[in-house]
Amino acid sequence: MIGTENQVSTQTPTPGTDLDAAARRVDTAVERAELLDAPSRRVAMDLKAAVEDFHREGLLRLVRRLKEDPRGKELLFELVDDPVVYALLVMHGIVRADPMTLAQQALNEVRPYLESHGGGVELVAVEPPVARVRLSGACSGCSQSATTLRELVETALITRAGLERVEVVPAEPEQVTIARGSIGVRTQWTKGPAMDEVPDGRVTLWHPPGASATGGPVDPGAIALVRIGEQVSAYRNACAHAGFSLERALVDGEGGVLTCPWHGYKYQALTGECISAADKRLDAHPARVDGGHVWVRLGA
Ligand code: FES
Repeated sequence: MIGTENQVSTQTPTPGTDLDAAARRVDTAVERAELLDAPSRRVAMDLKAAVEDFHREGLLRLVRRLKEDPRGKELLFELVDDPVVYALLVMHGIVRADPMTLAQQALNEVRPYLESHGGGVELVAVEPPVARVRLSGACSGCSQSATTLRELVETALITRAGLERVEVVPAEPEQVTIARGSIGVRTQWTKGPAMDEVPDGRVTLWHPPGASATGGPVDPGAIALVRIGEQVSAYRNACAHAGFSLERALVDGEGGVLTCPWHGYKYQALTGECISAADKRLDAHPARVDGGHVWVRLGA
């Protein structure tokens, strides 16, 4: 049984319903589905996925047909300028993500190799056809191995993100914070949990030193660590939709998609780009794996 009458709305769609009201109805239905027992929740989520697949197929046919006709193609370009239409098409994987997302994805593919050789790369900006990156560790300097690692970064961005040129910006000076009343000095890179405490394909909450757990639906002091294989990303634990905790988010390791448990917003799991709304993204912290531990750069 999916739910009782007072758990799941039986309201039928009203013709002409405005978009906000429709979105609120989806939010409410997903919130209610979250209250169901596990088997019922799976049925509800399967139903949601089946409806989305059906819509994707319909949208694909629509887009293909429009592209076949020059007038249709023109109209399609106008439609994609509408943020709602754009978000819908990106959500269904019908239009390509923006250049920043593509560049992040390209770097995420080479990052494990760089890190295994003691190097790191941070994407600073993408202004097609140019990407700007900051290199660290073994990627910087003039040695033969640094040159090889830099070429790897450049090739990834050019071949996988469709960019033409990569510029390296100077490394930031090492930033330090001095705690009031403390004799210690610590860098912004903070040692997080061991990799074997961060399970693959899910979100692990980590509270950095000084952040206390609230244990409630809102816990923005925590860092949400998302691990897919050997790659880990770190985000402030606040969904970009309404700020709720990402602790129980679903992570689809194969598709690389993270789904917020509260109202179903979807994100690229390793970059934090929002698939459901083009103007939103998770608040990311640079993260790396070193010596079997996750390290997260905190602070501004
Ligand atoms: S989707 Fe609403 S808080 Fe995440």
